Amino acid sequence: MSGEKKGRAIVLGGKTGLLGRPLTAALEAAGFAVMPTTRGDLDPFDTGAVARALHAFEATHLFNTVAYTAVDAAEDDVEAAYRLNRDLPGLLARACGPAKATLVQYSTDFVFDGEATAPYTEEAPTDPRSVYGASKLAGERAILEAGLPDYQILRTAWLYGPGKKNFVATILGLARTRPELSVVADQVGSPTGTLDLAGWSADLAATGKTGIFHAVGSGQASWCELAAEAVAAAGLPCRVLPIPSSGYPQKAWRPRYSVLANAKLAAAIGRTPRPWRQSLREYVYSQEQAAD
Ligand SMILES: NC(=O)c1ccc[n+]([C@@H]2O[C@H](COP(=O)([O-])OP(=O)(O)OC[C@H]3O[C@@H](n4cnc5c(N)ncnc54)[C@H](OP(=O)(O)O)[C@@H]3O)[C@@H](O)[C@H]2O)c1
Repeated sequence: MSGEKKGRAIVLGGKTGLLGRPLTAALEAAGFAVMPTTRGDLDPFDTGAVARALHAFEATHLFNTVAYTAVDAAEDDVEAAYRLNRDLPGLLARACGPAKATLVQYSTDFVFDGEATAPYTEEAPTDPRSVYGASKLAGERAILEAGLPDYQILRTAWLYGPGKKNFVATILGLARTRPELSVVADQVGSPTGTLDLAGWSADLAATGKTGIFHAVGSGQASWCELAAEAVAAAGLPCRVLPIPSSGYPQKAWRPRYSVLANAKLAAAIGRTPRPWRQSLREYVYSQEQAAD
């Protein structure tokens, strides 16, 4: 094993995921040797193949960005959601134990009930109200129940970033062609840039700490505020109007308030995640430059 590297990381979903791609880049930039995979390279459900890959690559870390992330579709596709969000982390935890590798798993603000009035800490009681949230919580529990000594579960939220469809990209696309947009204003959460999350993940991996961490941008916003900020940063002449959730019915339940407290992550990595507005502006500017 190379003594110079900070670690050796396999990233499941590392070539195609919204998070997977920047995570691969951030780990490389932080000094990890990285093996990103797609389902074609390595079937994550093939436990023998995963064990062999961990051994052959001499992996110190297995990052799992693979998930069933279609929140509304999950309501009707319960089996598939649980297979990816509960069963897979459990299988991976059991593969990481004998390989002495740290499993890094991503979870969600949807594990909470959305009834809070102050940011949720890692110790706050969970109470998911959607299939997606329940299946992701079951994945957290599968890792804990596997008794793996070294794991990091990063609960994140409201991701945007380059390379793949996301809420901000969708809003910018609509704002280019419409004079006004109506966006839900009574759901408040923690917008988070994937480039930031990837950097925190690399830093946290290097600490060797174990546990659950809330990994989100600092501050809070409603979907309407996030959309308005993105439209303003892009300089688009589109009005963003607030509407209640009842004006935009969705199949799955959504939390009214799911802001996550990120102080534990900040203490672990020695820096406070920057405000979401800063990272959003960087993302929007980079998209606008790419579109020029
Ligand atoms: N996006 C958000 O706003 C958000 C919010 C909170 C938490 N999270 C969590 O953050 C993590 C990363 O999310 P993301 O938005 O980056 O997800 P994503 O873009 O939907 O990527 C999911 C990855 O999983 C892979 N995948 C899906 N089904 C698979 C299967 N059956 N076998 C193998 N690979 C499969 C996909 O590969 P293909 O490209 O081949 O389909 C893709 O690389 C997830 O754990 C998610 O729950 C996301």
